Amino acid sequence: MEESSKVNENIHKVRDSMDNIRIYPDPILRKKAKPIVNIDGSVKDIADRMAEVMYTSKGIGLAAPQIGIPNQIIVVDIGEARKAFINPEIVEGDGESVMEEGCLSLPTIEVPVKRMERVLIRAWDLNGKELTLELFDFPARVYQHEIDHLHGILIINYLSRLKRELLIKRMLKDLKQSQKQGSIL
Ligand code: CO
Repeated sequence: MEESSKVNENIHKVRDSMDNIRIYPDPILRKKAKPIVNIDGSVKDIADRMAEVMYTSKGIGLAAPQIGIPNQIIVVDIGEARKAFINPEIVEGDGESVMEEGCLSLPTIEVPVKRMERVLIRAWDLNGKELTLELFDFPARVYQHEIDHLHGILIINYLSRLKRELLIKRMLKDLKQSQKQGSIL
């Protein structure tokens, strides 16, 4: 997930890290990520790489498919510290709130998304320890966004087809434009 008010400002940084971040319509973004069976050093390496890409892009959360890895790993830093979670799942939740969200895989797009206000998440940390987290409000939103990625769900999935197609068309046009201007590659 991206700091929502800074979407346009961040596009330059997103471009810089575009080699690393998979952008819509990359098919990996629509696939279900596979669970991690062994939490070993290679999982820690992936989490390190994800964190690097996330910080370069000024993101606050990133899911492994966004860097081309089809496994269930998310990295989050909502201003506290960097945290990585393996095989995260929402076990319960309630409440409702709507807020505009951005996504590093959908540069320039901001979409109002309805999410649960409170969620209980079960996951494993990089040491293989099982954790249960209770999250509220904005943090709860960030985790729901990243876990959606592991199910192949993007913020544009919350829109009507018409609105979705319109926004994507505009985004692809914007990206092409900046490519022409030599900002990419
Ligand atoms: Co995202």
